Amino acid sequence: MAAPLTLTTAISYPNGRPHIGHAYEAIASDAIARSARLAGRDVFFQTGTDEHGLKMAQTARGRGRTPRDLADEMSSYFKEMVQSLNISHDRFIRTSEPEHYEASQAIWRAMEANGDLYLGRYEGWYSVRDEAFYDESELIDGEGGERLSPQGTPVEWTVEESWFFRLSAYQQPLLDLYARHPDFIRPESRRNEVLRFVEGGLSDLSVSRTSFDWGVPVPDSPGHVMYVWVDALTNYLTGCGYPNDTARMAKWWSDASDIRHIIGKDIVRFHTVYWPAFLMSAKISLPDQVFGHGFVLNRGEKMSKSLGNVADPLELAGRFGVDALRYFLLAEVNFGNDGSYSAEAIVQRANTELGNAFGNLAQRTLSFIAKNLSGRLPTYGEEGDEADVTLRTLVAQTVSEAMPAAFDAMAPHQAIEIWLKAVFACNAYIDAQAPWALRKTDPERMEAVLATLYASIAQLAVGILPVIPGSAARLLDKMGVPSEARSFACIVEDWYSPLQTSDFVLAAPTPLFPRLELAEAEGEGN
Ligand code: MSP
Repeated sequence: MAAPLTLTTAISYPNGRPHIGHAYEAIASDAIARSARLAGRDVFFQTGTDEHGLKMAQTARGRGRTPRDLADEMSSYFKEMVQSLNISHDRFIRTSEPEHYEASQAIWRAMEANGDLYLGRYEGWYSVRDEAFYDESELIDGEGGERLSPQGTPVEWTVEESWFFRLSAYQQPLLDLYARHPDFIRPESRRNEVLRFVEGGLSDLSVSRTSFDWGVPVPDSPGHVMYVWVDALTNYLTGCGYPNDTARMAKWWSDASDIRHIIGKDIVRFHTVYWPAFLMSAKISLPDQVFGHGFVLNRGEKMSKSLGNVADPLELAGRFGVDALRYFLLAEVNFGNDGSYSAEAIVQRANTELGNAFGNLAQRTLSFIAKNLSGRLPTYGEEGDEADVTLRTLVAQTVSEAMPAAFDAMAPHQAIEIWLKAVFACNAYIDAQAPWALRKTDPERMEAVLATLYASIAQLAVGILPVIPGSAARLLDKMGVPSEARSFACIVEDWYSPLQTSDFVLAAPTPLFPRLELAEAEGEGN
């Protein structure tokens, strides 16, 4: 039995409304969480909002509001987004929750007990946008000659009393960790970046701030709040029951759990350098994998408020459908690389792959059965025809082996590719077998063909559940597939025969994926 899976997204800064990048991360993580459940694993899947820090404090001040008030409002939009996009998270965490303060203070005390925290004075560069300290040598020059962070964000010179974490002591332990677990950082390109950074030597990290108070108070140190990343990273532990719920911790955050963080490429350093160092210091188990996905770009361009090209995921989902958006993002972007979206590309993929390839296959088959067999389910042939056996073997292998393996390897785009091949094989089969022509000449053979298709379509619907949970479940409901058969391992015959002999009647289907049209302006490339 595979270990329980703890899967997390990054927690988002609620200093504005969610954008398509946040939606992308939630959707990709959701597909992986759902596929692990369909593979029979126990899963704890967490997402949420990261509410402290200078960025939140400054945004709130700029709007004449308190940070808590701003966080309450904006966090509710993130909650709404994950609900609307059908994200199957088990917990939505907010770092302003009292329980999270307790966890953050507990990990602080554990790091202190290990002798890794000392009081000093920070003098150096800080980027509010990234909530990150940077070394002089990392800065780049902007177009107007100003100093910028390596991410291109403004930096400011900061001088204040601060607690420090002895990160320098963890250079070797971290390098050992990366060597011992080559899969700790994925994909490979990100791993190389981190290795180079750590090999270059680590300075101690400033882990508290005294110039503002919107954060988790440092225990026994009046005037200090924790550096936002210390408490932000700790959200993962809070959700798993740290520090008091030892039973939950044993299940979801121990050496026996499979702990994976899905985050964007811009925050890999925090998750693969600072986070494991904090955990080693506090003597807490380490995650198994940090996957740094790429960025979603608007027609190849980075989204920014100043360019006015920040897409609202709920608007896109409203226009094209939640599942069309989910499918598009996962199929289009090779997980780990950057990818681009545009209205035309969404419409094109949804219409051809969901609508024409899968939707029509289901529609043709089910309406033919509803009409010609009066909704009675067709009977398999006595001994399987070779074409039937070949198709059923391909579909079963796709859904019970190849797709779960691809999802587990954090490659949802590959899972979709494999699925689509099996969908094409079904289409080729229906054309070659032409059940409509068999109706008069060989009704028995017609039934065998339809039964093969019925079972294959149901299995392919199960396979694609992680990607398009709403539409795939609607199809399975329509087809009478019981919930216990909705797993990757489901053996077709287990549910097909009982369903066939039950009083189930297949109703005439309605198209699963209505054809999407572009608004005129979008066709012109706006
Ligand atoms: N609050 C921190 C994360 C703390 S995790 C302990 C943060 N928040 S964020 O709101 O800026 O970003 C949240 C996630 O969205 C990050 O993983 C980030 O990489 C991801 N994305 C932000 N913009 C993105 C795109 N345009 N495309 C894909 N993902 C992007 O960082």
